Amino acid sequence: MYKLLIRPILFWFDPEKVHYFTFTWIRRLSKIPGFTSLFRWLYLVDDSRLEREVFGLKFKNPVGLAAGFDKDAKLYEELSNFGFGFIEIGTLTPKPQEGNPKKRLFRLKEDQAIINRMGFNNGGVDAAVLRLQQNKGVLIGGNIGKNKLTPNEEATSDYEICFDALYDVVDYFVVNVSSPNTPNLRELQDKKPLTELLQTLQNKNETKPKAKPILLKIAPDLTDEQLLDIIYIVKTTKIAGVIATNTTISREGLQSENKNETGGLSGKPLTKRATEVIRFLSENNNKAFPIIGVGGIHSAQDALEKLEAGASLVQLYTGFIYEGPSLIKKINKAILKKTS
Ligand code: FNR
Repeated sequence: MYKLLIRPILFWFDPEKVHYFTFTWIRRLSKIPGFTSLFRWLYLVDDSRLEREVFGLKFKNPVGLAAGFDKDAKLYEELSNFGFGFIEIGTLTPKPQEGNPKKRLFRLKEDQAIINRMGFNNGGVDAAVLRLQQNKGVLIGGNIGKNKLTPNEEATSDYEICFDALYDVVDYFVVNVSSPNTPNLRELQDKKPLTELLQTLQNKNETKPKAKPILLKIAPDLTDEQLLDIIYIVKTTKIAGVIATNTTISREGLQSENKNETGGLSGKPLTKRATEVIRFLSENNNKAFPIIGVGGIHSAQDALEKLEAGASLVQLYTGFIYEGPSLIKKINKAILKKTS
């Protein structure tokens, strides 16, 4: 139904407008009695064999919504009814910011991909906290970043502000230093600034009543040598794990007319590289930390490959747009089939 009827209509319109339109309609429908139950009946796979315990947290199933879809934590409750085991909100920054000028989101239909240069458009961390205080039980990841105007030398303090603000209302944190759309952000992935940033956050974490898992989200464009540095940094700072990967700046093998737009590429062209990064981290970290696998999951098989490569959990964004909510159910069913 989604691919035959809903997607062709949605894909007729501007992608960013469709995003907000879809939000409005999911919210409206969820308020009509019976619809929430209908969504859950259609998409939720409720089976204890899907439960996972990772970095001390209990996930109802291993399939999550990746960051960027519900940046401002406006729809996490409704989205969880589509069968996700967890929802990652953000990237949030201390102050609200507009992001890059429009148009900044492009579909690459022939490639089953998206290019975005949103630039951390968000309403600021405090507004999101107010919404998350209403959470009745959805497992939430809080993805944090820095404001565009904050220079890299002062970036740590932006991450600290977001960490403190979100501490009571999220289950785990994600340090995003891998978006290609904030100038120079990815330089924070270098060994020295990254170690300082993660160590500062981890020190802060240890002063809290109960430390929360902190994960690092990395780019798929890192070299093997840089990935080995990442493993070393995660181990030495003792953060909880890694999310691999964010969008890529590579444009290899693309067909669509929008392929030369600036920004981060996600979706099918990223599947293979993201899985390679997961496998590399998994083979070289001696199981020292768990990995959340994300990047180009468009089928149950794609998700199984990420899990086989060493991911403990998976997330999706672009696959959700192209395949619709039934993809979440298909993945969970395939995992069950594999375990039975
Ligand atoms: C993203 N992604 C992203 N990641 C992040 O850490 N913070 C963010 O704010 C965003 N924003 C964002 C916007 C849009 C429009 C897209 C398509 C993606 C990256 C996302 O979470 C994920 O890592 C990649 O998109 C790869 O997964 P998929 O989309 O191939 O499943």
